[in-house]
Amino acid sequence: MSRFFHLLNLIFILYILNIPPSENVDRNNFKTCEQSAFCRRQRKYKPDISPYEVDLRSMKTIQSGHLQFILHNTLKSPIKFQLDIFTLEHNSLRVKINERNPIRKRYEVEHALVGEPKLVDVKLTNLDGKQVEGSFGKSAKFLLNAKPFRLDLFTNGIFVMSVNSKNMFNFEHYRTKPGTNESTGENNTEDNEDGMWEETFKTHQDSKPYGPSSIGVDVNFLNFENVYGIPEHADAFSLRSTHDTDPYRLFNLDIFEYDIQNPMALYGSVPYMLAHNEHATVGFFWLNAAEGWIDVNNDKLTVQGFFSTIASFFSTKPTADKNEVPQVSTHWMFESGIFDGFFFLGPTPRDIFKQYSVITGSVPLPPLWAIAYHQCRWNYNDEDDVRSVLNGFEKNVIPLDVIWLDIEHTHGKRYFTWDTQKFPNPEKLQDDIARYGRKLVTISDPHIKKDDAYQVYADAKALGYFVKTKDGADYEGSCWPGASMWLDYFNPDIFQWYSQRYSLENYKGSTGNLFIWNDMNEPSVFNGPEVTFPKDIIHYGGWEDRDVHNLYGMLQHMSTFQGLFNRSNGHIRPFILTRSFFAGSQRTAAVWTGDNAAQWSYLKIATPMLLSLSVTGFGFSGADVGGFFSNPDAKLLVRWYQAAAFQPFYREHAHIDTARREPWLFGPDNTRLIRKAIEQRYNYLPYWYTLFYKQEKQGIPPMLPLWANFPKDKNVFKTEDLFMVGNGLLVCPITEADTNQVSIYFPGENTIWYDTRTLIQYNGSETVLINVDMESIPVFQQGGVIIPKRLRRRRSSMLALHDPITLVVALDRNHEAKGELYMDDGYTYDYKHKRQMIYRRFIFRNNELHSKTLDFTGKFETDAWIERILIFGYPKNPKKVIINSGDKQAIPLHHYHAESQMLTIRRPGPLVASDWTLTIT
Ligand code: NOJ
Repeated sequence: MSRFFHLLNLIFILYILNIPPSENVDRNNFKTCEQSAFCRRQRKYKPDISPYEVDLRSMKTIQSGHLQFILHNTLKSPIKFQLDIFTLEHNSLRVKINERNPIRKRYEVEHALVGEPKLVDVKLTNLDGKQVEGSFGKSAKFLLNAKPFRLDLFTNGIFVMSVNSKNMFNFEHYRTKPGTNESTGENNTEDNEDGMWEETFKTHQDSKPYGPSSIGVDVNFLNFENVYGIPEHADAFSLRSTHDTDPYRLFNLDIFEYDIQNPMALYGSVPYMLAHNEHATVGFFWLNAAEGWIDVNNDKLTVQGFFSTIASFFSTKPTADKNEVPQVSTHWMFESGIFDGFFFLGPTPRDIFKQYSVITGSVPLPPLWAIAYHQCRWNYNDEDDVRSVLNGFEKNVIPLDVIWLDIEHTHGKRYFTWDTQKFPNPEKLQDDIARYGRKLVTISDPHIKKDDAYQVYADAKALGYFVKTKDGADYEGSCWPGASMWLDYFNPDIFQWYSQRYSLENYKGSTGNLFIWNDMNEPSVFNGPEVTFPKDIIHYGGWEDRDVHNLYGMLQHMSTFQGLFNRSNGHIRPFILTRSFFAGSQRTAAVWTGDNAAQWSYLKIATPMLLSLSVTGFGFSGADVGGFFSNPDAKLLVRWYQAAAFQPFYREHAHIDTARREPWLFGPDNTRLIRKAIEQRYNYLPYWYTLFYKQEKQGIPPMLPLWANFPKDKNVFKTEDLFMVGNGLLVCPITEADTNQVSIYFPGENTIWYDTRTLIQYNGSETVLINVDMESIPVFQQGGVIIPKRLRRRRSSMLALHDPITLVVALDRNHEAKGELYMDDGYTYDYKHKRQMIYRRFIFRNNELHSKTLDFTGKFETDAWIERILIFGYPKNPKKVIINSGDKQAIPLHHYHAESQMLTIRRPGPLVASDWTLTIT
């Protein structure tokens, strides 16, 4: 008995200290679908015929592009729903379904969308009073079937998605509690199913005062075999079938020591799924911030009969004998809110990225330093420690842009304060850090320590700014500081007030050189149900956490963004890293994948996790280098540095109980390898920065799955061990301990790939075994792409801002190539407001390389010049190279290496900002 209690005690202490016990996540702390009453009800809902019917006679045109219908549940006739269909610009459709006269208003998500989506005209055809067909946009079409309700979607004449074709649409209307005998008091057993009116999980009771309110719907992707997205899960990129597991869960949680390869929830939620095949890329986004579960199944659809009216729209004709096509059927279940579905009809990967970003926004161009290398640990202990780490980077000649301070830098986890023993002079520290263009990031969590002597707490308490229990008291829970409360950012006044905590005046000891990390913002509540808020606590507007849970973290980091933005009067681009996120978070924060572990399997899963984030709008994301929990050996650490050098957010981070692991602590050879990896990142920064600019403009993430660039190559639809950076680099991270060979499939027929280290050429559509050693970071440049680099060694990215550029021109089979370079001051909004930028296009064709401007309006002043041009795949030693720039002509030196087919042009000399032409004869 006493041993048992001892053990319990130990587990509790380990938990509170965030120390990993030997086993991974304690799954018992988190619900399964069976333990979540609405998931249990929805998952088993499978009628033979859907009882939902659309009354087509009720159709109203509210305005061009907006139609409204009445939808009935024929089994519950008095209950009526309103179905709104909006045809949107960019081949997109929005469908809303809500109760017509609910006894309580249902929550509609705020803050996630950029604005009100723009409507486009629709051309309607009524088919026999049974169906309505609407054509809109480039080549998009919907078909609304009345009895039963079903919605089919087409792009370019191809049938791609179908809603409720599996009859699983099931909308739980708000109702009065049985037995209450109020006016409409329904008193039937069906409305009193287990879990409808209260639910208990472990010791926590969810009071559910409003009863059941969930919505389920099946969305089926026809003729697709792969779907992606719905982060955040530590799982495969091409989503697995959940036939034998729980559905994928979307509920922002702090899952201590999360396991990999399973559909459990994690810190963030993006209810957006994409499907891709060789004909089309499409997407479905359900704007809902409640707890969600999504089943995924690969099955077959029998075309004959049920779908015969539309069989002609299949992209691949069903086989004659079987009349079947593949499909991925998905079943979405959310606990409350409304059905608010966006259907993106592509049809290309680029179209899809654009379409989703038009609705939820794109990642704005980060400051240049934010995409360089970051050094973090829990914790850098004091000012001396920070300085000695900075010195380590100096001594070992390793570039660095940002150093981070975790929770121990504060006065007892009171954010916006400093432990003055350890950090007596934070402003001086920041000024010193800034000397080499470097920055400091400090952590600021959402829990506010309950302590009347802590000004932030005292003010918030007096103003009534904390989230409330169902009984109206301030909700109290526990987190790092012990007893804590949480601000209710849903209230615009509180949002504003919190943002003001970041002003230089309020945040004493901060300077314009300090940026912010918002952690634990799911929020993590150590003694709450599933380590978070109880669902029945109340936010501004009277909404339960049940309705808005997945937005909480986003509101915190959006308010932080506002604070940093205002701090510089909107002049300087903020940087915020958040752990929790929702659709739309990408507009104001970068994300990381939380508490991973120093194991090879976590290095490997980082790629699919980051790809899932990338394709759902989160192009600025990364995983802790080295793994957060426990100690990586030198090999794992080096491999992690090498892989992450090519992933968007590049930060080493480690748990407080791990051994120190700064890059120089593993012997000279490993220091050299890590230095080389970090240098690679710095060398490619001009390319990364250009890709981030394109992401802001077009929504295309810098890190891409192979199918985004090779949409017709079926061999890469499931690829998750390789990825691309833009369309120029193919990266194969090495994620196994003792590998001396990797097998790589090079995509694209007729494509040439150049090994960036050896210059060996590989052919597209071939699988090749490539030898690797510890020096190798297998990265291949695509023939046809020109990549800008900076090759001079510098202490930080900002010090390299005006350094010369090297262009790497990789020729395709026609001896052509093109690429771009974007440059600006790297940290202000002048690129936006004054258009102070340089945006160039390079084209190589007919033995000439041209540099032309893509943007004439403004100019960023720089004397950066073209220092070197490397041409890969050049067939012969040329006689002469001439460069014309304005009225100047020069004959730079060149060197040809026949074996590797590389032509090097030394110091060609034109300014980056000028137009020039290089001619090879
Ligand atoms: C949890 C975060 O995920 C981790 O990165 C951080 O170091 C700890 N909280 C302490 O702040």
